[in-house]
Amino acid sequence: MGKAWVKSRRHDRFYRAAKRQQYRSRAAIKLSQIDLRYGLFRDGDVVVDLGAAPGGWSQIVRERVGRAGRVIAVDIAPMAPIEGVEFLRGDFADPRIRSELFEHLRKPADVVLSDMAPKLSGNRAVDVARGLDLADTALSFAIRALRPGGAFLVKVFQVRA
Ligand SMILES: C[S@@+](CC[C@H](N)C(=O)[O-])C[C@H]1O[C@@H](n2cnc3c(N)ncnc32)[C@H](O)[C@@H]1O
Repeated sequence: MGKAWVKSRRHDRFYRAAKRQQYRSRAAIKLSQIDLRYGLFRDGDVVVDLGAAPGGWSQIVRERVGRAGRVIAVDIAPMAPIEGVEFLRGDFADPRIRSELFEHLRKPADVVLSDMAPKLSGNRAVDVARGLDLADTALSFAIRALRPGGAFLVKVFQVRA
């Protein structure tokens, strides 16, 4: 990533807000705003956070679901522990990690989130296709894992013409 890109991120309001509030990612601020607008999380909810590292979304969810809730985070990369967040490490494209997650859940989830993003290759078309693949895998999982009326939130890349 270029220096200009890093510099522009530092001046970005989401980045600054996340830093000020000690969240691990600027994405945390966006999720917080989505929740305020759509009311995604409730006290006691069971929430699955796919592509969770470094953990900004999990931090927000942890705050919103309270002590009675559960947050189960999954990532192919390591994630520093967050109190009250259960972490499963593995490639979500691998059916074994999806089975492990099902066993771990024990009951249907209230919310499934996916912020999984592939490592960027530099080829936008390839990156978009890989991102959509991950989103599709997350959707298939959510259809099976969610309770009726549960919510699914997924982030995908946009293709610029
Ligand atoms: C944009 S980051 C997520 C940021 C996170 N939501 C936060 O707020 O801190 C995307 C994450 O997706 C993860 N990821 C990409 N492919 C994955 C896969 N196949 N299985 C699990 N995690 C994956 C990456 O390791 C990366 O940590």
